[in-house]
Amino acid sequence: MNILTKGRNIYYTVSVICFISLFLLIVIGGTVRITGSGMGCPDWPKCFGRLIPPTIISDLPADYIKFYETRGYSKSDFPLMTWIEYLNRLWSVIIVGPLLLASTLLSLTWIKKDKSFLILQLLMLFLTGFTAWLGKIVVLYDLDSLRVTIHLIPALIIVSISVIICTRLNGYRVLDVMNNNGIDGLPNKIVSKNYQLYLISGFIIISMQILLGTQVRTEIDKYITQANILDRADWIIKAYKWLPIHKLFSTVVTIIVALIYIASRKTVNLSRPTFWGAILMIGSVSAQIITGTLLTEFSFPAASQLLHLTFSTSLLCGIILCISDKYFNPANVKYIPISE
Ligand code: HEM
Repeated sequence: MNILTKGRNIYYTVSVICFISLFLLIVIGGTVRITGSGMGCPDWPKCFGRLIPPTIISDLPADYIKFYETRGYSKSDFPLMTWIEYLNRLWSVIIVGPLLLASTLLSLTWIKKDKSFLILQLLMLFLTGFTAWLGKIVVLYDLDSLRVTIHLIPALIIVSISVIICTRLNGYRVLDVMNNNGIDGLPNKIVSKNYQLYLISGFIIISMQILLGTQVRTEIDKYITQANILDRADWIIKAYKWLPIHKLFSTVVTIIVALIYIASRKTVNLSRPTFWGAILMIGSVSAQIITGTLLTEFSFPAASQLLHLTFSTSLLCGIILCISDKYFNPANVKYIPISE
């Protein structure tokens, strides 16, 4: 195996690990929001002016209570909240950042054969810098809920790009195996003629539902901040504007996901990314309905809040996996549409 092939194999492994780390970053970010730990570190990038935050109250600045009060916070559960927020920052700086840089460097091994990897990597780096900057703004403006939402969107785009990179690299690996086994030519994929329409509509519908969900969340967050209401049983009363639309729209999401799943199962020579993407979507949408119902019927359990955000991310990953398999997978370009 020459050095270039070795580099490309390492690039695939690093890209998969990078995807997992990005997914976990969204989960950790969700934990920060749900536990209200965002102000655990009131400054950025340092925490209480230090690289490693204090662990005991006596190490905090003398005026820290006054500082929180002037920003509208009556209390901050030190040190738990501080360390949850700090873990979020550590994960970004020590795990995600180096993985992104390493994968960008490794994408250079593809520069002659396929420049799209470098372009996608640079886009991810740019969006990561942009998201980090938004993170700073979120802290500076005391976690205004609209800004928290704006912070989530580039994060979801970065994870989606990471899925596209992994699927495309996997496609090249499949082509290599085929070449090594002397298999000539790509197998034909025979799909439903509406499959393309389902995929594009699925992407739009899922994105809209995620935006609607963030509106529900923003509505509740605003109420909690304004009225300082901490009793979770009261939250539902204030989610009257967006929640009914969000609930109703989940029927549209379920229908489109079911159509994609059925069409994928009818595909002749179904490839593995689409197989797993469709299963991930069906599993995630079911989990969304369960966790969404738990939220509305059982006074917003914190665990359901976190799971609801996690499964909306996996639902998005599922549709991106199916789309990138169809449009960006070099081992999967021959699609023949058939009438149903
Ligand atoms: C079917 C697909 C669904 C998707 C993709 C979805 C997505 C989302 C997203 C992205 C959020 C914002 C989460 C956050 O920022 O932390 C959210 C919030 C919410 N969703 Fe859904 N949702 C779905 C279905 C449902 C259903 C069926 C219900 C109710 C029965 C529901 C109830 C809620 C509630 C109450 C919130 C606010 C949660 C909070 O404040 O933490 N969702 N949803």
